[in-house]
Amino acid sequence: MTPRVSPPSPGNHALDERLRVALEREREQALERRCPAPTERRGLHYRLGDREVVSFCSNDYLGLAEERPPAPLQPSGAAASRLVCGDMQVHRDIEHRFATSMGFEDAVLFPSGFQANVGVPASLLQAGDLAYSDALNHASLIDGLRLSSATRRILGHLEAPPRAEPAAVRWWFVESVFSMDGDGPALADLDTHLALGGCVYLDEAHALGLYANGRGRAAQMSHRPTILVAPLGKALGCAGAFVCASSQVCAWIRGHARAFVFTTGVSPVLIPRIAHALELVAGPEGDRRRELLWRNVEALRTLLGERAGLGGLERHASPILPVLVGDNRRALALSAELLDRGWHVQAIRPPTVPEDGARLRITVSAAHEPQTVERFARDLCELLDRHGLASASSRCEP
Ligand SMILES: Cc1ncc(COP(=O)(O)O)c(C=O)c1O
Repeated sequence: MTPRVSPPSPGNHALDERLRVALEREREQALERRCPAPTERRGLHYRLGDREVVSFCSNDYLGLAEERPPAPLQPSGAAASRLVCGDMQVHRDIEHRFATSMGFEDAVLFPSGFQANVGVPASLLQAGDLAYSDALNHASLIDGLRLSSATRRILGHLEAPPRAEPAAVRWWFVESVFSMDGDGPALADLDTHLALGGCVYLDEAHALGLYANGRGRAAQMSHRPTILVAPLGKALGCAGAFVCASSQVCAWIRGHARAFVFTTGVSPVLIPRIAHALELVAGPEGDRRRELLWRNVEALRTLLGERAGLGGLERHASPILPVLVGDNRRALALSAELLDRGWHVQAIRPPTVPEDGARLRITVSAAHEPQTVERFARDLCELLDRHGLASASSRCEP
């Protein structure tokens, strides 16, 4: 039986109308967003409409998202918040294991990196604290800080906080690899901030799995960041995020971070998969995949430099290679032309990036065949040339 569709109420109708106008305006500015609806996905290969494409825009840097490990059968759900009765042995075990492997006293597992970043800052920062935040920080960090009572100060991209400014606690919120630019802060600056008595909130979303035997950029620092956020949906190919800190801080987060307190515990189905990915990444298979990844990154960076004269890419010791286009419409056109040739690269536009910062955010994976990287580079260079974008910058200066 077809369910009855209720007629819209005047309020619902008015809301639809308001959004119709807003969406129309977005379309006029080439700012509309739509999920691309891939089908028949096999790793980086899938169909978009009637085209077979290869993705150069996923965060599956090590090709682990397709892993299907034989996993012990787990209950589907945690059935409640961790603080009620959703706290399971598998949660506690994996938190302990991850914290130990990262050299932290404790870790708290959140359902996603976004939720961790939105939930943790407000639980820790108080009025009188000063939070420095990089201009290009991820939306989740921006929103998380907005929910806190601290005074916020936006830094220029890659700028380090001033040495000493009076505050109860001086926090530095930053990503170790910026999701849209592929560069990152100098580790020495992070160490200096910590050495001078400040706290560091470091998001390792695009570094975990890739550096220091998979332990991320923080593992290369002299001091431990105060808070380390380790999202698992990128190189680990899973979902969820660990927040690592001291025992004291983690105990506080468990009791006070609203995005942890008022949400159902992470599904136990996911835990063996996270454990499997962590094990792979830390072992010889992780080394093998990282080697493939960096070989592909180097190849693409060299080809784009040589054939399209793209400057600045050598500064990116990451699999994220942005090609700055500037104009929204042109970024969309380039993305569509790449699609015609079988390559999927989403055009990234404001508000994800600053005004006039529209770009192709190209990401490389260990799962790309070297010949595929080569063919992609050839097509991209040809299109950039056609659009007069050869010799463009790969950097968006703030
Ligand atoms: C820097 C950064 N932090 C956090 C997140 C959110 O992580 P998740 O996808 O697990 O919600 C992202 C994802 O885009 C990110 O790029």
